[in-house]
Amino acid sequence: MNSTPVRVSRLGYVNFETPDVQRLTEYYTKVLGFALVDESPQQVFLTTGNDHHCVVIDKAEAARGRSVVGYEIQEDLDSAQRRLKEAGLATERRTDIGPGTPDVLVLTEPETGAGLHLYESQTPSGVTATFDQRPSKLGHVAAYTPSTDGMRTFYESAMGFRWADSIGDFFVFLRCNADHHAANFMQSDTYQGMHHIAYEARDLNHLQIMIDNLARQGYRLYWGPGRHAVGHNIFTYHEDPDGNHIELFTQLDVMLDEEKGYYEPRPWHEHFPMKPTTWEADALAMNAWGPLPPHGLKR
Ligand SMILES: [Fe+2]
Repeated sequence: MNSTPVRVSRLGYVNFETPDVQRLTEYYTKVLGFALVDESPQQVFLTTGNDHHCVVIDKAEAARGRSVVGYEIQEDLDSAQRRLKEAGLATERRTDIGPGTPDVLVLTEPETGAGLHLYESQTPSGVTATFDQRPSKLGHVAAYTPSTDGMRTFYESAMGFRWADSIGDFFVFLRCNADHHAANFMQSDTYQGMHHIAYEARDLNHLQIMIDNLARQGYRLYWGPGRHAVGHNIFTYHEDPDGNHIELFTQLDVMLDEEKGYYEPRPWHEHFPMKPTTWEADALAMNAWGPLPPHGLKR
């Protein structure tokens, strides 16, 4: 692919397929505090803020996370479609995707078959901001892939992402704006589909409110709090009612100055300047504070 990549500027939304729409909707609204914007028996739209939605729940036979990922792009859809075609990628222009996204460019993610939606903007949700447990935003979504190299090439050359970090030769982190990563991919010959999805807390106090609320609703963390060395976010992980892995995090690295090419210095950084790097696949990369996840470094 030699054409100029599309300018993806933000992770917008992720779709979840589930046999029990009501149960997953209750989890998002009552446990995580999302606002419900639109619903039918087949589909529910949820948001954390001004965008019409950042989570879509679809009725399906079986649970499946990350069936679709929506990205906002910083250019018009006509030029994006033209250049993706030049890059040899098939796209379809759709005006019937659903509420909130009246004009969408649809393509298929290589390697995984997940749907990718590109759009210029969403209809405003009309939702008022809250200061309860509701996350500040959808942060990133991670997936398994048979080839991290193949996925990195696609996201860099077609979608305009930048390499953020890697762990060994099996986990790659990619960013589309200042945030350390919006998409990350773990190589696996065994697993496929979503690895985890992550929602951002404003700060450590907000993260505590989220977790106290999880506990009150009967949800227990299976890992964390800890600090990933890769991205340096303070993390926690639990499972939603469908068994999807949910990360709640804060303090993710940011690269505010692309010219400098390093992450804004933080006191917990292991070295300065903290540039994109390939980390050793060891305990530090996974958790600078201590324990490995219960399943270890398994792929
Ligand atoms: Fe994460």
